[in-house]
Amino acid sequence: TKAAVFASGTGSNFQAIMEDDDLPIEVALLVCDKPGATVIKKAEQYDVPVLDFEPSAYASKAIYEQKLIEELEKAGVEWIFLAGYMRIVGPDLLGAFEGRIVNIHPSLLPAFPGKDAIGQAYQAGVDTTGVTVHFIDEGIDTGPIIAQESVELFPEDTEEMLKKRIQQVEHNLYPTVIRQIIGQNT
Ligand code: GRF
Repeated sequence: TKAAVFASGTGSNFQAIMEDDDLPIEVALLVCDKPGATVIKKAEQYDVPVLDFEPSAYASKAIYEQKLIEELEKAGVEWIFLAGYMRIVGPDLLGAFEGRIVNIHPSLLPAFPGKDAIGQAYQAGVDTTGVTVHFIDEGIDTGPIIAQESVELFPEDTEEMLKKRIQQVEHNLYPTVIRQIIGQNT
């Protein structure tokens, strides 16, 4: 099953997916909306074709998503895994891949949606936060939850320590969930 990973950042989740030899997907494309992002270099190391683009170069989201849909279809992509793609997916792309776009988010949703989930959980002083993998819909970090794993926050933690612990859980949970959902759908 061919899949695309969408990422805008460092790509540690992309890397975790690439390093798992037991996944039922072939990552056929990395889509990146930030030319120059570290994840692009990682994709090159794994010989994954990169589609990078600058959203501001397009008149609208509908226009660049149309182009994305064409490229994804050309590459034979059936599933999309968002891994730090910091952008809302619009109705065209959502419609073209209905029920086949998955996101990973560093909190126990619905708590702490949005860009700074780890910082917000840390500031709030909760004793448990975690990681959520979910299907996306038109909202920000909403959509049906597939799996969650909690991560404890200790009094002596710095935000950096919490972030490390959350990332370790992400790197294990995302490949596990990909195995589960693709197994069920093939
Ligand atoms: C992850 O924490 C993910 O949950 C969030 O963005 C971050 C991406 O990190 N959506 P990386 O680029 O995979 O290292």
